Amino acid sequence: MIEEILPPGVAAAEAFGDTAPALLFPAEEAAIARAVAKRRSEFATGRACARAALAKLGLPPVPIVPGPRGAPQWPPGVTGSITHCAGYRACAVARTVDVAAIGIDAEPTRALPSEITQAVAAGAERRWLAEIRPADPDVPWDLLLFCAKEAVYKAWFQLTGRSLGFADMLTGFTTDGGFAARIAGGRHQAEAGQAAALVAGRWLVRDGLAVTAVTVPVTGGGLERGRDDRP
Ligand SMILES: CC(C)(COP(=O)(O)OP(=O)(O)OC[C@H]1O[C@@H](n2cnc3c(N)ncnc32)[C@H](O)[C@@H]1OP(=O)(O)O)[C@@H](O)C(=O)NCCC(=O)NCCS
Repeated sequence: MIEEILPPGVAAAEAFGDTAPALLFPAEEAAIARAVAKRRSEFATGRACARAALAKLGLPPVPIVPGPRGAPQWPPGVTGSITHCAGYRACAVARTVDVAAIGIDAEPTRALPSEITQAVAAGAERRWLAEIRPADPDVPWDLLLFCAKEAVYKAWFQLTGRSLGFADMLTGFTTDGGFAARIAGGRHQAEAGQAAALVAGRWLVRDGLAVTAVTVPVTGGGLERGRDDRP
């Protein structure tokens, strides 16, 4: 499923549950030692997906240990992203010569509580939601907005080592599965060096799941310098 929204050069693996306990490296075991069983399962299946995705790039199994703010630490020359939610786990990876950063996110399809939408959506996004909901009611647009911003957050953190808030980006969606996020503010552009003011991604809703993916190309492509600092 996630592969459908990822570009060439990105390898992915996914699981629709935790069928068997996935083996962990000692450093991963140490990172998850105090976790409850549910957390342990999602962490381990995420690592199994990561190693399956790395294998598709021809890379050997290695520990993927959580680093600062929980971001997975990839081997040299690799970038990637992990997501898990009820009934789904996935990982996408790429070589950094091909892709600068990846962010993926998945959520079970549901109506997002309005207070969460209020926290996630900027004014322009709320106006867009008010138009698109009645026009295209079968798509969980509020949830997709949340899911897209989480994916952008993950890619941005990999790229810069810095966090973003929901208000730090303004997203725009197309009904055929595309979205873009403009990162607001000169500070954020400076953090990314040559990188992103505009990050492009894809979304998919199917079988009770909403998935989003953004990839930041090494040069050009969906990565453009913004015309101004405002969302
Ligand atoms: C980190 C965060 C994005 C994870 O999203 P989530 O929907 O809760 O959970 P997901 O299952 O999709 O993703 C979890 C995985 O993301 C990865 N992750 C965690 N922190 C990360 C970070 N700072 N950067 C990149 N990836 C990160 C990890 O691989 C984690 O799985 P693991 O701990 O098993 O390795 C979210 O919990 C968070 O803290 N967001 C920051 C606050 C926020 O929402 N800001 C606004 C976003 S615009």
